[in-house]
Amino acid sequence: MTPAFPRDLLERLRAARHIMVLTGAGASAESGIPTFRDALTGLWKRFDPTQLATAKAFEADPELVWGWYEWRRTLVARCAPNPGHDAIARLQGLAPQVTVVTQNVDDLHERAGSAAVIHVHGSIGAPRCFDCARGWSSRDPVPADPARLAPPRCADCGGMIRPGVVWFGESLPPREWAAAESAARSCDLILVVGTSSLVYPAADLPRLAAASGAVLVEVNPDLGGLDGLDGHFLRGAAGEVLPALIAAAWP
Ligand code: OAD
Repeated sequence: MTPAFPRDLLERLRAARHIMVLTGAGASAESGIPTFRDALTGLWKRFDPTQLATAKAFEADPELVWGWYEWRRTLVARCAPNPGHDAIARLQGLAPQVTVVTQNVDDLHERAGSAAVIHVHGSIGAPRCFDCARGWSSRDPVPADPARLAPPRCADCGGMIRPGVVWFGESLPPREWAAAESAARSCDLILVVGTSSLVYPAADLPRLAAASGAVLVEVNPDLGGLDGLDGHFLRGAAGEVLPALIAAAWP
């Protein structure tokens, strides 16, 4: 059965000239990638991800942090896009302009077919040197079950290779952030999917879009991150709500 969506929402979707989609970890949850605030299982049960995702943690224990990201890279490589990613990719053929901005470091939007995805928190597939920032590309197979793992060394300066993600306390990549802000200012509808809206500055984007006149639509089984804003709040999993929403808007 197709859930009923407000008629106004469906009209706004159809009429939108520029749709911005902002996704967080919840968008990849149904693909099997745990969100940041989910308890981790198995090997990593006793670690708090927010404690591993810092430059300080990497400097203090590079094998632990590199191993953790290699574990996540293994997980991403084994996962596939879910119907939520597919629905977001489909939007690009339905609205005149669509900008996908993600806080996720996986490549599931790209693998679903979304183009020009803006990764404001970096990408797990793009490590670089901790010292000289030179990009590092590995053809190594992803380790089967990495635990502690020494980071490789930079061919140029000998520095440690770090994951290409934004850690707590670090600035966002300026080009990506400028593009995300510009999309938030210019879109006429923003779809906020699977983010707790707790981590700034990304959490400012829905507010910026709403203040610039965009219609706000949130999809999350646990609404509440955007309290105080007006919009359409759709409670549910991205993989269920998004395909249904698109089917209802473009029957
Ligand atoms: P969080 O782990 O904070 O939040 C995940 C959100 O997804 C929660 O609001 C869940 O309710 C929601 N969720 C869970 N399952 C879902 C589903 N099937 N469909 C839709 N929503 C679902 O993840 P983020 O908001 O992405 O930053 O976290 C933001 C940033 O904090 C991350 O990018 C990362 C993290 O620490 C850095 O690494 C810099």
